[in-house]
Amino acid sequence: MNPTPSLQQAKTRIKQLRKEIIYHEKKYYLDNNPQVADFEFDSLMLELRKMEEKFPELITPESPTQRVGEQPLEGFASIKHSTPMLSLDNCYNSKELKKFEEKIKKNLPSQKIEYITELKIDGLGISIIYRDGKFTRAVTRGDGIRGDDVTANVKTIKSLPLAIPENNDVEVRGEIYLPFHSFQKINHTRSEKNEPLFANPRNAAAGSIRLLDPKIVAARGLDVFLYSVYIEEQEQESQWDNLKKLKALGFKTNPLSRLSLSLEEIMKVYEEWQKSRDNFDYDVDGIVIKVNNVEQQKILGQTSKFPRWAISLKFAARQATTKINDIVIQVGRTGALTPVAYLEPVKLSGITISRATLHNEEEIKRKDIRKGDTVLIERSGDVIPKIVSVMKEKRTGQEKIFTFPSYCPVCQTKIFKPKEEKVSRCINPSCPAIMRKSLLHFASRRAMNIEGLGDALVDQLINEKLVTEIPDLYSLRLKDLDKLERMGRKSSLNLLDEIKKSKNQDLFRVIFALGIRYVGDRTAKILASHYKNIKKLTEPEPEELFAIKDIGPKVSESIIFFFKQPENIKLIQKLKTAGLNFSSLESSTREDTYLNGKLFVLTGSLSSMTREQAKEKIENLGGIVTSSLSRKTNYLVAGSAPGSKLQKAQKLGTATLIESKFLDLIKEK
Ligand code: IVH
Repeated sequence: MNPTPSLQQAKTRIKQLRKEIIYHEKKYYLDNNPQVADFEFDSLMLELRKMEEKFPELITPESPTQRVGEQPLEGFASIKHSTPMLSLDNCYNSKELKKFEEKIKKNLPSQKIEYITELKIDGLGISIIYRDGKFTRAVTRGDGIRGDDVTANVKTIKSLPLAIPENNDVEVRGEIYLPFHSFQKINHTRSEKNEPLFANPRNAAAGSIRLLDPKIVAARGLDVFLYSVYIEEQEQESQWDNLKKLKALGFKTNPLSRLSLSLEEIMKVYEEWQKSRDNFDYDVDGIVIKVNNVEQQKILGQTSKFPRWAISLKFAARQATTKINDIVIQVGRTGALTPVAYLEPVKLSGITISRATLHNEEEIKRKDIRKGDTVLIERSGDVIPKIVSVMKEKRTGQEKIFTFPSYCPVCQTKIFKPKEEKVSRCINPSCPAIMRKSLLHFASRRAMNIEGLGDALVDQLINEKLVTEIPDLYSLRLKDLDKLERMGRKSSLNLLDEIKKSKNQDLFRVIFALGIRYVGDRTAKILASHYKNIKKLTEPEPEELFAIKDIGPKVSESIIFFFKQPENIKLIQKLKTAGLNFSSLESSTREDTYLNGKLFVLTGSLSSMTREQAKEKIENLGGIVTSSLSRKTNYLVAGSAPGSKLQKAQKLGTATLIESKFLDLIKEK
């Protein structure tokens, strides 16, 4: 047991701990470059907390333990801003931007003008005051004149320093935002609790900053980019200097600000960020163009609403309104019935959208979506567009309530919906819709890899009743294929050859091809290397299955359920009769353990191979490829245009391999 330290010893240790913690917080939250493992950081924090508990008289508001206040707030006081927080004028294309520049040139004749471009973060404007170098107050933009005092909530933002090296009064302004990864986490938890989801990160950030309990705010994961600083008795010469000063004081600024001399350069920056905006971990709705020189800014002045020296050039909207022309049910490979809205085509961030998923029956009811409704749709990241909300004020009375069918729209079998599930399913294994998707999955590259068996051909095989179940593929003959449209002799022979070749595929491919729910190609590999033969897998001992590393209970149950269905056992029997290989081809001579168990994430594009090929190479050496980065990831393979994963890897300290290093690694074997 450590003896209780004296007050003086405690003072010294507390000072040292705070210094270390602040250093590591900065490295982690600002520089994306952590210097210690999480547990080491946590133990420093724990030691500080314990010390402060013993010596409460030594607690100061700037101590890193004081970010989260104990007491919930009662409300927010309204505070007047020192100078109004202005808004920005908007423009949408280079022509409009040119007009902005013409006005500037008129007011600053024959002067050289330098611009700075910044990202326009879609969050909430905030003003933060430091007195004597200490975080004192944070106020929302509000109506620009007055805002709400949200000091306790803003204090929980970990990238924001609680103390800065500047004794004069300082006001910084910037944008609070919710990173996408935090937004998704929050919505995931809300959906599990059946709570309404936030429509976008901005709403979620706005909702979070107005919560009365700072403890809950702290858990939301808000962050902030600062873009301006006013220091008493000190003036920066340019916006660039502003950003430099902010950084020097320990604030987080967006790293993508650029200096530009011409509109051409600005437009290039605009195009570049517009293209890559889905790779950022925060929502960006355009760029802000600012005259860099502060003297010039002063000459240009401002209107009652906007500065005349800045403008925002907006990106094409990701949200749009359109009409639902029809609601149609689609049947997936697992028999899941998904309602899809057919929309009046509308452009959204450069892409014409004519369909949006409605997920399931509950979703339609919850949002009260009707055929004929005008809806707000949104696309974020690569995600399929979704319907954010119904504009009920636009209803004419002609809209039709959608009744979810009780029978499969394709084969008319009664649909099945367990009480605890949201999804309705068609459970007829010979439903043509399921058959179509199952066949495509069976033949796909990562499954049996039957080249040439694509959508059009599968449709024909099913329509002509040449294939009513998967094993029928193996009895196809040349004369059957000759009947089909657009199938020449050569293609038919190639296809038959491909089908024949597939009989010798490895066991893991067959397992994956069966389309067992939750069994992806990675799980299929684990199963194949454990069981080595299909026979044992078809009669799994639950205990054995549960004990396999990386096979969770949901997957185990699904496997057991699959092999309990007599039609699935029959299917395997027929495939066996057709001559398919059902044993693992893993041979002891193959050196496939070099990367055993190592977790990889791929990002960006490689020049020497496709992602699919890279995945195969890694897996052949025993590695595992996953889609999301975590602390467990061993390597991030970064091709060109790697996006936000690269930043995240740096933050997590994950080893990053550029293409040449990756090639070296897989060659090393
Ligand atoms: S400058 C006087 N820079 O956009 C200058 N604003 O639509 C006014 N915003 O109220 C703000 N990113 O909340 C500026 N890089 C950026 C910004 C930014 C986001 C917000 C800010 C402002 C709103 C105007």
